[in-house]
Amino acid sequence: MPKIIFRTSGGEVEVDALVGDTLLEVAQKNGVSLFGGCSGAGVCGTCHVLIPPEFLQKLNEPSDHEADLLEVLPMSKENSRLACQVVVTDELDGLIVNIP
Ligand code: FES
Repeated sequence: MPKIIFRTSGGEVEVDALVGDTLLEVAQKNGVSLFGGCSGAGVCGTCHVLIPPEFLQKLNEPSDHEADLLEVLPMSKENSRLACQVVVTDELDGLIVNIP
């Protein structure tokens, strides 16, 4: 079971993630405070997270829809993703997810 580390300004928490869940689902199942305003539909941008560059290649590619939304989010950076659109795989073991 891959381990995912969620990091916030308040500290960090390491959780076991189910392969196939999205990062938003992993956070919510483990009591990590990550708001998903559109419940994972990928249209609100509230689940925005920052991924360390070394992990970006291992994530499923953002859809055009996600890329378009990230482009217009004011707080978006090059390593931004929507947590509801990233699917956990075994390769993501040790992933650090920064919640801004
Ligand atoms: S929960 Fe709305 S975009 Fe992810």
